[in-house]
Amino acid sequence: TLLVLDFGSQYSHLITRRLRDLQIYSELLPCTANISELPWKPKGIILSGGPYSVYEKDAPHVNWAQLSSLGVPILGICYGLQEIAWHFDNSNVLAGEKREYGHARVKIEKHKGEAVHADKLFNGLGNEMDVYMSHGDKLSHIPQSFSVIADTPNAPLAAIVHNTKPIYGIQFHPEVTHTPKGTELLRNFAVDICEARQHWTMDEFVGKEIARIRALVGEKGQVIGAVSGGVDSTVAAKLMNEAIGPRFHAILVDNGLLRQDEAKTVHKTLTEDLGIRLTVVDASQRFLDELRGVTEPEKKRRIIGRNFIEVFQEEAKKIEEAAASSPQAGEIEWLLQGTLYPDVIESISFKGPSATIKTHHNVGGLPGIMHLKLIEPLRELFKEQVILHFRLRCRLYFICNVPSGGPINARHVILPNARTKLGIPERLVWRHPFPGPGLAIRVLGEVTESQLAIARHADVIFQEEIVAGGFYREISQSFAAVLPVKAVGVAGDKRIWAQVISLRAVQTTDFMTADFWYPPKEFIKKVSLRITNEVNGVSRVVFDLTSKPPGTIEME
Ligand code: XMP
Repeated sequence: TLLVLDFGSQYSHLITRRLRDLQIYSELLPCTANISELPWKPKGIILSGGPYSVYEKDAPHVNWAQLSSLGVPILGICYGLQEIAWHFDNSNVLAGEKREYGHARVKIEKHKGEAVHADKLFNGLGNEMDVYMSHGDKLSHIPQSFSVIADTPNAPLAAIVHNTKPIYGIQFHPEVTHTPKGTELLRNFAVDICEARQHWTMDEFVGKEIARIRALVGEKGQVIGAVSGGVDSTVAAKLMNEAIGPRFHAILVDNGLLRQDEAKTVHKTLTEDLGIRLTVVDASQRFLDELRGVTEPEKKRRIIGRNFIEVFQEEAKKIEEAAASSPQAGEIEWLLQGTLYPDVIESISFKGPSATIKTHHNVGGLPGIMHLKLIEPLRELFKEQVILHFRLRCRLYFICNVPSGGPINARHVILPNARTKLGIPERLVWRHPFPGPGLAIRVLGEVTESQLAIARHADVIFQEEIVAGGFYREISQSFAAVLPVKAVGVAGDKRIWAQVISLRAVQTTDFMTADFWYPPKEFIKKVSLRITNEVNGVSRVVFDLTSKPPGTIEME
């Protein structure tokens, strides 16, 4: 395991990400963490970048006594480099403020002074490499007992190494993709210098996680959790099911705001395909009653959130009462949550001396209300790891469409019966995200049965055509929304005054920003014609050409 100490750089989490791509397990902790109390000993430490200057009054510093007593190799990146220089050299090591952002080309130094560990960091990376610089401070001179191992015209001390210890500092960021050989440099550090083992695979993760869940929950413990049919909750539920079988109870709240046949499909997938113990609670009427007359999006969200918690709690109570009469099972003490690593990082990153630390976001505050302990099987994983692993597992199923050895890309057909390693159906793994408040935020204005029926029907047509056209995978999310206006049209020989459907499709990797997807003319013509012909109560179809920002993905 490698330990990454975070000084607050926007790239810190990418360091752990790259290491995990290399199958090296790594953890990120704030730079102020008490590392002498870690339950494990890291094989190496990486000090991240950060927005500070080491001489600032409030500048964060690691506990060097603790760090030195570990006696493991250290790599400082950007601020981490300055932190090392600041620690090892009493004189002022900074050449004042001179900002440098963007591409630079570093020359690997051939004459490395007397440093014994000099060669390993840049081993195999050639004489020069392209790097990404993003820093304010830079070093003014080589700190005592260090040698230079790389330079650029602008930063003559782009990389340094301690003369006798495996302690390195680099001015540039190897963790970003703009440093093309950055991952190789991190590999050199982690594998060759720290001797970390590259054995962190998803298979191993799954096995270990199942064992961890069993140990945590014990022989009789029971767990409940909400599922939505999305990838995260399904994968988390499947892991629970592998670990403790029917002592895990999944609950799907049908809020009446799901898409066509969604509750049925999720039920089939989870129970028949994955063998998960699932209760579907049909609370449609309750949600619709509560939403009557409400048009304001935030108010809709609050109503849906509150009712979700109430319904979930009522169902949990029923399960608990039923479980209490069974002598084989203990109390329900645990709540499953599909927390992913970015949420964990968000709560542990170093936010500076004054920043408050955000707690994990969670499903509508359920854990607090229910006094249950949280179990989070995905908390070590990035979204892409959850998705990609389970996608790539089924690569062979796509053989007809995947260029040999090439990456799976957008145009490969979705095979309805393909399965991933954990048995998760392929169509589910590729599924576009669907928001918790469901169609209520895709029916603008008041949510009524008839508006929901229009939204469902139009969406089915849009999705069918997207799949048929082979576009499903190049689009990250797509939906039909019902606008809260009517427009005039002609149907047959009659004038109609009916709803307007807005179609939206976006491309994004992180859903924080997104570009609208530009539909091919023949495709969109067909979708438009089908919707106006087949969906009752629609006079027009428009296509949303707004990216995010300034739009959001959902319309609300
Ligand atoms: P926005 O509309 O904020 O959405 O650009 C970004 C992504 O988040 C999804 N989304 C939600 N997902 N509960 C969810 O589970 C919600 O309340 C919610 N609101 C937005 C949205 O579908 C998009 O993928």
